[in-house]
Order: sequence, then structure tokens, then C-alpha cells
Amino acid sequence: MIQIPRGTYDVLPEDAFKWQKIEAAAREICARFNYKELRTPLFESTALFQRGVGDTTDIVQKEMYSFKDRGGRELTLRPEGTASIVRAYVENKLYGDPNQPQKLYYIGPMFRYERPQAGRNRQFTQFGCEALGSADPSIDAEVISLAMTFYQTLGLKKLKLVLNSLGDPESRKAHRDALIAHFKPSIGEFCDDCQQRLEKNPLRILDCKADHNHPLMATAPSIIDYLNDASRDYFNKVKAILDEMGIDYELDPTLVRGLDYYNHTTFEIMGASQGAITTLMGGGRYNGLVSELGGPETPGIGFALSIERLLLALEVEGISLNSDPALDGFVVAIGEAAEQKTPVLLNRLRLAGLTADKDYIGRKVKGQFKQADRDKAKFVVVIGDEELEQEKAVVKNMADGSQEAVAFKDLTDYLKEKI
Ligand code: HAM
Repeated sequence: MIQIPRGTYDVLPEDAFKWQKIEAAAREICARFNYKELRTPLFESTALFQRGVGDTTDIVQKEMYSFKDRGGRELTLRPEGTASIVRAYVENKLYGDPNQPQKLYYIGPMFRYERPQAGRNRQFTQFGCEALGSADPSIDAEVISLAMTFYQTLGLKKLKLVLNSLGDPESRKAHRDALIAHFKPSIGEFCDDCQQRLEKNPLRILDCKADHNHPLMATAPSIIDYLNDASRDYFNKVKAILDEMGIDYELDPTLVRGLDYYNHTTFEIMGASQGAITTLMGGGRYNGLVSELGGPETPGIGFALSIERLLLALEVEGISLNSDPALDGFVVAIGEAAEQKTPVLLNRLRLAGLTADKDYIGRKVKGQFKQADRDKAKFVVVIGDEELEQEKAVVKNMADGSQEAVAFKDLTDYLKEKI
């Protein structure tokens, strides 16, 4: 038997309604904050992620699903959404649109070859927002508030916002030099990846999974001490707006994030823990990415979160999203003649906008009523020989057990009025 690929899963109908609710909540929140959907392909040129996410990141070095298509093109299933959004922004010249900043969102599958565990999948679904074209600290606070509001709308309470700043290029350069000086004398004690990263991108050493217990990690120079005045000022403004909004946060100077495009504000939201993974969402500012990908110098900031980790957090906090909707009507046929009539009646109900169904596998009357129960039908429409003759149906209200005879021609109006 052929089985589902490792790190992926099916969403069965009994769970799919949760996904629909979550996605609807995301769209509703985006409308409130005036973010518009941008849909991009599930695969892109491999070079987009090498350049956008960064050659020295785990994502690009170890986790991409890359392949050559039949035309010999190097393609990759997208591991994240930001690079694609920025590519689309540049390619469609959205920087020329008078609507600025461009406030965009996406919901869709991402692919990373990671070691699967709860909350870490090889195909997972991200909801992300990106605001391109503003370097105003209030937009940093806005995207953070959007994510917080989204989680809170769904009922999550145990949320912790963690905040840091990586500063501007000048600050990052000073910090980079300090990191190299710090690690260089003992770099032989670190993994091969870290040895390679030392000169190329020493910041990546700080989020190395293999060496995170090395004593030099704890004493590594902190970016916060290398922020220049402009970067410190920017970060203070972001914090002041969050303070005024009443959004609590914790400062964490080790929050460097695993993607290369970040500068200035970086943030994560942690949730109630179950196992090791508590990071529900991550994001930050990426001034410079648009120009790196061929567009004009444009500031940007955004976040992404996965629905998989959100579902785990809802479970840990004991929050159940209400179950899938009930049917308005279920048509029960007694006898062959009635069976012939039910498709037409049922179709009439559906054309009138009611949700309705019937039996298709020859159940006896009792079985048909059981199926109506399983479908949580509000009304059961019963047709037998006598009803056929009189062109009437017996309509049973399943909530109180009462029943009434209703003429076929009045059936949709009757049900619509009752529902
Ligand atoms: P990221 O931190 O790599 O950032 O991923 C963001 C979120 O995606 C994580 O916090 C987590 O909820 C979810 N996630 C990541 N990997 C997995 C996985 N294997 N299984 C389940 N969930 C996962 C980014 O992707 C950036 N593009 C975020 C961003 C947008 N920064 C600026 N704009």
C-alpha cells in the first residue's frame, strides 16, 4: 500500500472545518487591518530563496525541496512566503502603485525537509503578512498587533511576545566583527557548518542547533550593545508604541531568527508549551530585501505563523473550535415510489439555498433517520405512498419532535421560514 509522505498529513472532513474557521478568522483580521491577499506559485526559481532567505541558512542548506523540471530549470517548493511576496512585488512593479505601503497577506502550504515531530512538518500551512514601502515604527507595531489580535480572536491566552532589534547594516557590521573576534580562537570546537559560517555569516552560529550548549554561546557579544543611535532610536519608538497599545513583550537579545534578510525589529510569539516547540509565529523587518531581489530600495516588515502550531496551542489551552455545521433538511423516502420523487424535492431545497441531503445506499427508514441524526439535520422531510398521493410531505422538527404536513410546493418556503 502506498502511504502518505513522511512529515505530511491528511486533514479529514471532521477536522477541515477547523481549518476553514482559522482561515476565515485570518481573512477577517486582515480586512480589519487593511491587508490584501497576494497569491504566488508554490514553486519558484531556486535562486530566489538562495538569494532571499540566504545561502548560509539551514533552510537553504538543508531543508529545501529542490528539483530540475523537464526543461532543466532549477526550481524549489517554497520553504517560506516572504521571498515570493517580494519577488511578486518587484515583478509586478507594485512599488509604483500609489497605494503605499503595500499591505499584503497569504495563506498556503510551505515545504521544508525537517525532522518531523508535533508542530514540525514537511508540508505546513503559513498565514503571513508583509507590509512593503514604509519605514515607520508604527507599522512594526501594527503587524505585531495583527498577529496578536488574530491569536486572541481564536481564544488563545497564553501568549508571550519576544522582541529584539538587529539594527541597521552599520550596527550589524560592528556586531559581526565582534562575533568573529569572539568565536575565531575556538572555532575548531564547533560543527562544520559553524566553521564555514564564521566568516560568511557569524550571526548564523548563534542559532546553530548542534552547538547551542557551547559555553561561548552564552557569552557571545549581544547585538543590543552594538546598535548605533539611529537603530536604537528606531527600536525605542517601536517599543513605545507597543507600550501605548498595551502589548506586553519580553526583550531577548539572542533572538536573531533563522533567515538572513532581517534587520531592525525581530519578534516571535511563543505559546503554551507541549513538547519542545513553543514558537507559534516569527517575523521581523527586512529593509534591503526588495533591492536585493532587483527592486528599488524599499523597506519591509512582516511575520508568518503556521496553522499546525496554532492548532497544537489551541489543544493545549483546551479551546475547541465549534463543530461542523448542521444540515437544514434530510429527505427520508418510504417505498420505491417515494424514492423516485426524493431527488427532485431535494434538488429544489438546494436550489433554494438550503443545505440538504438524502440516503444513497438503500437504507431502511430507521437507517435513514440515523443518517439524518449523524448529519445533525434540523428537519426531516418524510415521504411515503400516502404523502405522494396527496403531494405533501411530513416535516419533522428534530429539535422538539413536532411534525406537520406540508404541501410539496410550499416545502422550501416552509423550511426557509422555520430556519
Ligand atoms: P520562520 O520563523 O521560518 O519565518 O517561520 C514562521 C513560522 O512558520 C514559525 O513560527 C512556525 O509557526 C511556522 N513553521 C516554520 N517551520 C515549520 C514547520 N516545519 N512545521 C510547522 N510550522 C512551521 C518565516 O517563514 C518568515 N518568512 C516569516 C516572515 C515573514 N518574516 C518576515 N515576514
